[in-house]
Amino acid sequence: MPLSAIPEPGVRPSDFRFHCIDCSHLSDSASPDYRCPRCGDLLEISYPEWNKSGISSPASGVSADDLKSTWKQRRLSCVPADLSGVWRFRELLPVLNDGHVVTLREGNTPLYEMPQCARIAGVPRLSAKHQGMNPTGSFKDAGMTVAASFAHHAGYRWIACASTGNTSASMAAYAARGGMRSLVLVPEGKISWSKLSQALDYGAVTCQLRTDFDGCLRLLQELVLRAPVHQLNSINPFRIEGQKTLAIELMEQMDWQLPDHIIVPGGNLGNSSAIGKALLEMRDLGLISRLPKLSVIQAEGANALVRTLREAGGKRLIGVNAETRATAIRIGNPASWKKAVRVLEATGGACEQVSEVEMAQAKAEIGTEGIGCEPASAVTLAGLKKLVKQGFVKAGDNVVLILTGNQLKDPDFTIEFHRGDLLAGTPHESAMAALSTLRRPPIVLDATLDEVLRTLEQADKTAPSG
Ligand code: F0G
Repeated sequence: MPLSAIPEPGVRPSDFRFHCIDCSHLSDSASPDYRCPRCGDLLEISYPEWNKSGISSPASGVSADDLKSTWKQRRLSCVPADLSGVWRFRELLPVLNDGHVVTLREGNTPLYEMPQCARIAGVPRLSAKHQGMNPTGSFKDAGMTVAASFAHHAGYRWIACASTGNTSASMAAYAARGGMRSLVLVPEGKISWSKLSQALDYGAVTCQLRTDFDGCLRLLQELVLRAPVHQLNSINPFRIEGQKTLAIELMEQMDWQLPDHIIVPGGNLGNSSAIGKALLEMRDLGLISRLPKLSVIQAEGANALVRTLREAGGKRLIGVNAETRATAIRIGNPASWKKAVRVLEATGGACEQVSEVEMAQAKAEIGTEGIGCEPASAVTLAGLKKLVKQGFVKAGDNVVLILTGNQLKDPDFTIEFHRGDLLAGTPHESAMAALSTLRRPPIVLDATLDEVLRTLEQADKTAPSG
């Protein structure tokens, strides 16, 4: 069985509880739907021992500097859990009693400088943390290694999720690695073939339901109360714990020099909640001294959080009928909206929406840096441009975009964009035409040297400047 033992941690581990985000009820166990038994709201994992003494207090014997150097030292280790960019930070994760993790060496994702996109957006320093460089090509792997390890530890034979594609690909992979079966519920015709094919390859029982993502999630929530399957959507708070490590690793990569802004796409809002939770915990533990502003960007056609904040002051969810070509974030009723509202408020971040055209343009611009991402990830650059225009992001600010998915997750979008077919026949058609200078359609030629030389000369004349 491909399970790896976590060695004795170098610093004192902490124990955890389930904490209701609304009524604050604390418990040692959670029901299969991960809802509060008192009020039905979402649960999060809390660490009472941190609250008592603070992991960084001298009483605990573990200072913030100790943690930083332990995490750095583990980079030299060959132990599988240390090779994971998630479990390397295990002091800030729930402790697995049997010490076994299901890992694919997730995390350890690159932080790229983005000089051309910085110029385009009008900021001096811009980088992108590319979570699409995870083993299954999306940020989901960071949460999945933790949730799958706990599911395995609890003895579940089946794990299940509703998904717009990336969660299902990731969950299916981790199920296979941990020797569990997996059940995937996806909206029929609304996820990319690349993501669907991953779930199939990893042996998931894959159901294409005639509904949208929100319908799949509703059904899953009923299913887990009736069948012995363990749900691994981001309602599962272990997922959130794993995804926190994105922010910890980012701070480490920046040598603990904080950015002013972190910008992330928003769908079901688990990832923004996780990044925010990590920032708050790192501040409370003395690992960072202030909070970067965490901002969430949504597609205009799937803008539930934008509307919730603008029209209801963040007090109640305004759901929408989601429609966007960024199928990863085609979500109308985000489960973690309350958690996201709180971390936006706590960090002073913004929430913006971008059009389909703005997203397509940003994706092509990111591509010119030699960095590919899926459409949902590109909303971050499109959103940054708006936040700069609004003056929310200031001229001297240091900004990090979170790219959530790999370019190869949705090749149809890229090919349609470059061929000029993307959004054809929609009201966006004329706005798309204005992006022709960014398009590089494939050229079909006779197989002669002359033809290729002529094409090369022509291309050289129209080479982009800079
Ligand atoms: N970017 C990508 C590439 C995604 O796959 C998702 C969500 C998001 C952003 C949004 O993240 O939901 O945490 O706000 N994909 C989920 C899925 C819903 O099923 O794969 P979120």
